[in-house]
Amino acid sequence: MTAPVPAERDLDTLRAAAAGCQACDLWKTGTQTVFGEGTRKADVVLVGEQPGDQEDKQGRPFVGPAGRVLDEALEAAGIDRTKVYVTNTVKHFKWTAQGKRRIHKKPNAEEIGACRPWLSAELESVKPRLLICLGATAAQALLGRSFRVTQDRGRLVDSPLAPMVMATVHPSSILRATDDESRRVEMKRFVEDLRAAADALKSAA
Ligand code: URA
Repeated sequence: MTAPVPAERDLDTLRAAAAGCQACDLWKTGTQTVFGEGTRKADVVLVGEQPGDQEDKQGRPFVGPAGRVLDEALEAAGIDRTKVYVTNTVKHFKWTAQGKRRIHKKPNAEEIGACRPWLSAELESVKPRLLICLGATAAQALLGRSFRVTQDRGRLVDSPLAPMVMATVHPSSILRATDDESRRVEMKRFVEDLRAAADALKSAA
């Protein structure tokens, strides 16, 4: 089955259709489709990898620990989360059991490809001025497999997807930092990337 994307680009219509998507097998183990959230009028679209445990349960993107890091970084960068559209490359939680815990598992190319029509439809609906890819999964899905976040983070890249496109790290990479000092340094760099994006948007206004 391919993703049942309707012709309309109205976000509520898309969200309702995505709720029944069975284009890959992840619907079988995920609680629900976690569609993007935010206004169609958003200037900025942020794309993550896939919902995590909390997002899967609540049905909303970036509401768990990584979402809290993202909120903090957006605020520090002067970007109002209520004015951006936040979504994921893959819209079901992929996990494996470890005891009673559900551990995040990276989506594969087939799952990313199956979900792509939803992301394309979201981008066609919102038509952001600035698109920010959070982490390698989003960056490589949208900007090509050879894109390297470590090398190319924090600078605008040419893409037909939006007038301004940037990739930076995924907020969960900051949570994985092994000590307080590296966490502080990584958070600072993440905020700097987001601030550079926000500044580019302002100067192009
Ligand atoms: N990580 C993501 O990439 N997206 C979410 O929504 C939550 C965690």
